[in-house]
Amino acid sequence: MCAYYQDGKERIKKGDIAFYLMNEIEILEVKHLKEHKLMDISYLSNGHHISMQVPYQTVMDDIKLRTRTSKKPKDPKPKINEMGQEVVEGFACKPKDFDPERPIMHYKTLLLLCDDERCGKAGKTDKATQLREILKEMGLNKGKNRIKISRTGCYGACRFRQVCQVTENTKVNGNPENNALWLRHTHTFDEAQWREIFTLLSTDESLEKILDKKHFIPMKVYE
Ligand code: FES
Repeated sequence: MCAYYQDGKERIKKGDIAFYLMNEIEILEVKHLKEHKLMDISYLSNGHHISMQVPYQTVMDDIKLRTRTSKKPKDPKPKINEMGQEVVEGFACKPKDFDPERPIMHYKTLLLLCDDERCGKAGKTDKATQLREILKEMGLNKGKNRIKISRTGCYGACRFRQVCQVTENTKVNGNPENNALWLRHTHTFDEAQWREIFTLLSTDESLEKILDKKHFIPMKVYE
């Protein structure tokens, strides 16, 4: 279903520059006319737009390829942030169309992970980033059951490091049972434990009913 230059190997393609009977031509269009099994070749010669039709597989003895412009590289796929916006090149999530009034992204649960000096050192690794990756895998980084991870400064509860406060969005669909819980020594939790916690939070199970009491920070009124 093609037409070939005189060498019988190169197909005639749109954008090619060729010699046709000593004239330089530019191939403007190459179309299949399926019904008639013809190739319709349009080209520019001395400023004239000319078309010719030849049967499929014709080798054009009078046309010799001179240059072929390399294909334009495809535009790389634009990076899209979790809010579905195109991201500024070089940034992780900065949107191209900045709207100062754009609502923040809904979350059902907010985990406030202390990343200050003592808790941060206990965690050693960048825990927040690791947890966000797990949430992405679990599909809990967006949508109505989204779990948001934010780093915080010192809570003054360093003895329980690494401290993580659980906050539920009770104005919308957060589970009051899990609101205002404080988890301790979370730097010792492995991935399986975090996955379990994320699953419990997203399915509205009570953390206190399922997790060991030792994971929670007690609270009392000091007079
Ligand atoms: S550094 Fe985390 S509670 Fe103090």
